[in-house]
Amino acid sequence: MARCFVTRELPGSALARLRAEHEVGVWAERLPPSAEELRARAREAHGLLSMLTDRVDAELLAACPDLRAISNYAVGTDNVDLEAAAARGIAVGNTPGVLTESTADLALALILALMRRLPEGEAVVRSGGWLTWEPAALLGRDLHRSAVCVIGPGRIGRAVAHRVEGFGARVTFAGRGDGLAPLLAEADVVTLHCPLNDETRGLVGEPQLQAMKPEAYLVNTARGPIVDPAALERALREGWIAGAALDVTDPEPLPADHPLLDAPNLIVVPHVASATHATREAMADLAVNNLLAALAGEPMPNAVTLPAP
Ligand code: DGY
Repeated sequence: MARCFVTRELPGSALARLRAEHEVGVWAERLPPSAEELRARAREAHGLLSMLTDRVDAELLAACPDLRAISNYAVGTDNVDLEAAAARGIAVGNTPGVLTESTADLALALILALMRRLPEGEAVVRSGGWLTWEPAALLGRDLHRSAVCVIGPGRIGRAVAHRVEGFGARVTFAGRGDGLAPLLAEADVVTLHCPLNDETRGLVGEPQLQAMKPEAYLVNTARGPIVDPAALERALREGWIAGAALDVTDPEPLPADHPLLDAPNLIVVPHVASATHATREAMADLAVNNLLAALAGEPMPNAVTLPAP
């Protein structure tokens, strides 16, 4: 029987399978453990089931000499120091695939909400501003016949492309090494689906936002630091782009008094792209399967390997 630490209660019954085989401690608070609390609770663990809100860095790993497996409850692993884990022979796993469709659904919802100005329309109704039907009030943009640039042609990016093509939009993909400027210049919507790493941190800053059309929209359901928040605030205030929708922010959570929230034409939701009952339960199953396999001395079904240099 191994010792496991799970940094949050998970939906569904997956943790019961872990408890049936191992000694399991679970962080029961709503807010994540601090770095010190995480070190203290994980110190004697053989297996760690972490969230994207936990920083699993070299310092933590050095404090956990018995750790054999890290199972991250997310497809993104930018919160885990993969090199430090590899150097210590610690297996790392993630939860790909099961959240692809839910994440793509949310990206589509944000695209449509932006283009058809849903938050503004709702606010007008609630504030008593709906006086009559007007020929030129709340005019938006059509997704059909628009040009959508998907940055990151992986599973989620392709699922978003499939959806918007179903709406009659034209898709262009931008991957590693592609020149972004011409794609940004012709897009009506730019939607981000790349992982956060040294190459993509700050990928969308002032030059990229200035390259976009004033009637274009930016959607980020990937990771907050891919977009420079100060540049985005300027772009919205000065009308370089027509609007933006963010499921992820930098910092995260975004404090209620953050200046970006005062910028016009911005929709922000609190990192909920995978937040459906079925998807979060499926993620819990994959995360527990990874941990069970590694603790049994087998390969993780969804092992993360170091990216090629
Ligand atoms: C992930 O899995 O990386 C998402 O951001 C949360 O589901």
